[in-house]
Amino acid sequence: MSRRNPTPRTPPLTPLVTLFEWKGGRALPLPVRLARLYGNLSMPLAGARPHIISNFVTTLDGVVSLNVKGHASGSDISGFSVQDRMVMGLLRAIADVVIIGAGTLGADQHHIWTAEDAFPDLADEYRQLRTALGKHESPLNVIVSGSGQLDLDLPIFASGKVPVLIVTTTAGAKRLHKHKASDVVEIRAVRSVGVMRASSIINQVRRVNVGKLILVEGGPRLLGDFYAEGILDEQFLTLAPQIAGRNIDDRRFSLIMGQKFAPRSPVWGTLVDLRRGDSHLFLRYSFP
Ligand SMILES: NC(=O)c1ccc[n+]([C@@H]2O[C@H](COP(=O)([O-])OP(=O)(O)OC[C@H]3O[C@@H](n4cnc5c(N)ncnc54)[C@H](OP(=O)(O)O)[C@@H]3O)[C@@H](O)[C@H]2O)c1
Repeated sequence: MSRRNPTPRTPPLTPLVTLFEWKGGRALPLPVRLARLYGNLSMPLAGARPHIISNFVTTLDGVVSLNVKGHASGSDISGFSVQDRMVMGLLRAIADVVIIGAGTLGADQHHIWTAEDAFPDLADEYRQLRTALGKHESPLNVIVSGSGQLDLDLPIFASGKVPVLIVTTTAGAKRLHKHKASDVVEIRAVRSVGVMRASSIINQVRRVNVGKLILVEGGPRLLGDFYAEGILDEQFLTLAPQIAGRNIDDRRFSLIMGQKFAPRSPVWGTLVDLRRGDSHLFLRYSFP
């Protein structure tokens, strides 16, 4: 007999409990309400190259997308956790650039990758934090698509709310240039067929934005390419207390898709920070 609890328990927006804190780098000037909810947040001091972090939510059994129509978003994984959304907004608020793949945009077509879109209740605090960091406009939203098969009428491209960069192949750029894009959308091509190297994507991003903090929000195929080239510095990972299950051979995605590391080239991280929000864990791993 199956034991089912059909209603996800949405924990209230209470402060996270810091179990283990990374004390390196520079403490960021979080406004009072954010500091109360998250605790302290530090980031490494800016070096010559940008610091590249990723943020995901996963179930206990490693599923990041149910891949079911109407239930393919991160909220289905987190159980609509407001604490997860608060952290998502926080990381976007401090980022200069947010990178996502075309599959993630396809799953959440009306979303824009800003802090306030992640968690509108804290929009004022996120804005204060950005201003204190000297970052005035929204983070550059970067969409990665080899094919260039993107709908330029989606809000991310058409609303003018955020600066957008599409990184694509030469063929993809040709396809995209057939359509009129809004003035806030820039298209840059990498000389590549199909899958582009993560380092080439970053090179294109840096020509448009010289900011030092890049946030990769996935999805799993894009993230796989970043891990494959060893250019990701940190993984923020929310562990949601849900077992999603999967059939043999079904298309439920795990954190990384399209790349295999272990046992030949295993990728090991170091836990540098750990917080708890009810039964959710907020992990931060470093991949030096
Ligand atoms: N749980 C979480 O935290 C979380 C986070 C993010 C996403 N997700 C979920 O993950 C699912 C989407 O997974 P996904 O793996 O399809 O997402 P994805 O990595 O965002 O999208 C894959 C697509 O992006 C483009 N792409 C990615 N890397 C590329 C590269 N190196 N070179 C060229 N093109 C590249 C390709 O687009 P073209 O086909 O146009 O060439 C590819 O088909 C969604 O259900 C989403 O909600 C979950």
